[in-house]
Amino acid sequence: MELQGKVALITGGAVRIGRALALALAERGVRIALHYGRSADAAKETAAAIRAAGSDAAPLSADLAESGAAADLIDRALERFGRLDILVNSAAIFLPGGVGDTSEGDWDRQFAINLKSPFFLAQAFARRHQPGSSGLIVNIADWRAFRPGPDYLAYTLTKAGIVAMTQSLAAAPAPRIRVNAIAPGAILPPPGKDDVYLQRLADRIPLRRSGSPDDLAKGLLYLAEADFVTGEVLFIDGGEHLQQL
Ligand SMILES: NC(=O)c1ccc[n+]([C@@H]2O[C@H](COP(=O)([O-])OP(=O)(O)OC[C@H]3O[C@@H](n4cnc5c(N)ncnc54)[C@H](OP(=O)(O)O)[C@@H]3O)[C@@H](O)[C@H]2O)c1
Repeated sequence: MELQGKVALITGGAVRIGRALALALAERGVRIALHYGRSADAAKETAAAIRAAGSDAAPLSADLAESGAAADLIDRALERFGRLDILVNSAAIFLPGGVGDTSEGDWDRQFAINLKSPFFLAQAFARRHQPGSSGLIVNIADWRAFRPGPDYLAYTLTKAGIVAMTQSLAAAPAPRIRVNAIAPGAILPPPGKDDVYLQRLADRIPLRRSGSPDDLAKGLLYLAEADFVTGEVLFIDGGEHLQQL
C-alpha cells in the first residue's frame, strides 16, 4: 500500500506503543484518527506531534468497553477524514489473574476491550471501507497467545482470540482488505512496574534484551507495505515465544 495521503485509525494511539505506531505512520504521510480512552491530554499532545511531523490528526475519544462504541468510532473517523484505509487495534488492558483468582469482572472487561471491540471495529471498518481501494487491519496480539502460562490467563485468551480473528478475517473480506497481527514481547513495563521488570525478563529472551515501540513501528510499516502478506502474525519479541514451556 502506498501510504502517502492514506488515513489510519489507531486505537489507544495517545500513549506508549499506540503513540509510536501513530507517529510512524504519520511520518510516512498517513493522516491519523487518534483514538483515546482516558488520556485526553496525551491525545492532544500526540496529535500536535503528528501535525508537527507534517501530517494531520484528530483525537477521538471512546470507551471501548461500551457496547456500540466501535461502530460509532469508525463513523466519527470517516466523518472527519472522508476515508479510512488502515485500522490498528492496539488498545487493550493487561490484568493479572490465574485460574484461582480471575474474577468475572476482570474476564468480561478484558474480553470486551481486547477482543470484542477489535472485532466490531474490524467489522465496521470492512462494511464502510470505500470501494475500489485496498485496506489493512493490523491487530496487536502478544507472544503469550502462543505460549499460554498460568498467569494473565484471561488476557492471554483474549490475545489467542485476536490471533484466530486475524486468520479468520484474512480469509474474508479478502481481497479488498489484508489482515495481519503483530505479537510483541517485552516492550514497555506494564503499569506499576519499572525497567527492572523488563531486565528480569531478558534472561529468558533469546536476544537477551527487551524491545522498543520503534521495533513495533518498523513491523507495522513492513505490514503496511507488504501487499502479498495477509493472515500473518509477526513476532517482534526477541524470540521470547521460543522459550521452553
Ligand atoms: N507493553 C508491552 O510490552 C506489550 C507486550 C505485548 C503486547 N502488548 C500489546 O500492545 C498494545 C499496547 O500496549 P501498551 O503497553 O502500550 O498498552 P497500555 O500502555 O496499557 O495502553 C493501553 C491503551 O489502551 C487504551 N484503553 C484501555 N482501556 C480502554 C478503554 N476502555 N477504552 C478505550 N481505550 C482503552 C488506553 O487508552 P487511554 O490511555 O486513552 O485510556 C491506552 O492507550 C496492547 O494491545 C498490548 O496488549 C504490549
